[in-house]
Amino acid sequence: MKLIFSLLFLSLKFSYFFNPTIARGGEQNSNHSGLGRHLFEENRFQKLDNLARGYMSNSDLEKAIKAFDRRCANVSRIYSIGKSIQGVPLWVMEISDKPGEEEAEPSFKFIGNVHGDEPVGRELLLRLANWLCDNYMKDPLATLIIDNVHLHILPSMNPDGFSLRRRGNANNNDLNRDFPDQFFPLNDDVDTRQPETKAIMSWLRERHFTASASLHGGALVANYPWDGTQDKRTNYYACPDDEAFRFMASVYSSSHYNMSLSNEFQGGITNGASWYPVYGGMQDWNYIHGGCFELTLEISDNKWPTADELSTLWEFNRMSMLNLVASLVKTGIHGRIFSSDCGKPLPAFISVKGINYTIKASQAFADYHRLLAPGERYEVIATMPGYKSKRTSILLGEEAMTVDFVLDPEITPKGNILRSGYDCSCDHKSRFKLVEFSPWPYWEFSVILVLSLAFLCFLLKRRVIFNHIKYRQSVGPKRSGVV
Ligand SMILES: *[C@@H]1O[C@H](CO)[C@@H](O)[C@H](O)[C@H]1NC(C)=O
Ligand SMILES: *[C@@H]1O[C@H](CO)[C@@H](O)[C@H](O)[C@H]1NC(C)=O
Ligand SMILES: [Zn+2]
Repeated sequence: MKLIFSLLFLSLKFSYFFNPTIARGGEQNSNHSGLGRHLFEENRFQKLDNLARGYMSNSDLEKAIKAFDRRCANVSRIYSIGKSIQGVPLWVMEISDKPGEEEAEPSFKFIGNVHGDEPVGRELLLRLANWLCDNYMKDPLATLIIDNVHLHILPSMNPDGFSLRRRGNANNNDLNRDFPDQFFPLNDDVDTRQPETKAIMSWLRERHFTASASLHGGALVANYPWDGTQDKRTNYYACPDDEAFRFMASVYSSSHYNMSLSNEFQGGITNGASWYPVYGGMQDWNYIHGGCFELTLEISDNKWPTADELSTLWEFNRMSMLNLVASLVKTGIHGRIFSSDCGKPLPAFISVKGINYTIKASQAFADYHRLLAPGERYEVIATMPGYKSKRTSILLGEEAMTVDFVLDPEITPKGNILRSGYDCSCDHKSRFKLVEFSPWPYWEFSVILVLSLAFLCFLLKRRVIFNHIKYRQSVGPKRSGVV
């Protein structure tokens, strides 16, 4: 009985320390001053220290990452994106059938332990990596992910906060408030930006991720942009891809053991700003500047549960994590863009009518991966400087769809004539001479001839492409089109 009471008391105390409403943020509790505060801190540290039993320390984590890399060398490589203030490397595990190579595939990143006192994510991410490695070629989902996605996992963004058992980093800065904000210039000063934040930002400059998720604790909900509002009020603030994000967040919550049964959040998902506005968060920054669709996942009501609960939490979240990553392959539209004259890949821009957001195809392969809510009609537009834009209307079902584009070079009418009518090897001067000195009637005749030929070619090409679409849509394993 006594034990039950003291446990109850302890959990009450913890629910006070770990106020769930400060999961993504909120001010640190600061009405404790002087000696009171000191005792409070010490007490708290001791309790958290007891709780940390069974969790990996920072050096355990590093060992576990290196052990994973040795054990799973065929499907992984590890790299560091920088160091924390106290010099702990920020290790990333890349999992793919061709780790370290560039492929025409979507990339996903998981980031754990953004807040030092939310350590469940870092433990689950190590389990995820090992599970994928163990189940490659055995489990269809593991195989699909490793074969078709480049998955990058950063188990701890804030190792110093973890070892200090607190939310902020070694400077006691909240890393999920340290990114440049779209509405307020609070973090625009590069010199005061934390090394952990800088590491993430330069990582995103080097590498493009289609989507990502950061793992937090203190609530049970999948949170999507926007996180902040312009007027600082708490209400729903939809980003251009609201529908796609709601779909993405629902993939997570509905695959979870009981996230979607939440009483607080309908369907277990929430728009960030309608929960409480956050400024300088990582999520909105990823979407705005990284071209990356990021969710903020609150994966346990208790920020720091005892280690014996980790296996249960892993089971609760396993299918969610796998399905979220797999949704990059199983849903949305995907394709490549080529030029019609020599077939070279074009790193073009892809946009969707009615959605004010543009993604860019990759430089190397010109592949793009556009997340979109299923069951709707979309008009997809490919644009590339120097080429004529193309658009196509598609009906996106539950399955992913391939939509390739072939763009024609933009040619001025004069250039077109010159190019078609005369040998390209002749230099500018002689070409202009020919234009100048051609007798007018003859010149007019060639214009008409060339234009009719071009029109005929255009008609023929349209027919071929139209038949190609019909063919691929009727027989292909996934519905697809080329325009
Ligand atoms: C989910 O299940 C856990 C463990 O049984 C429980 O503690 C939690 O309250 C449940 N949450 C919801 C939203 O049902
Ligand atoms: C589209 O978004 C940009 C910012 O990315 C903004 O400047 C622009 O005003 C938006 N356009 C419309 C039509 O909403
Ligand atoms: Zn958090």
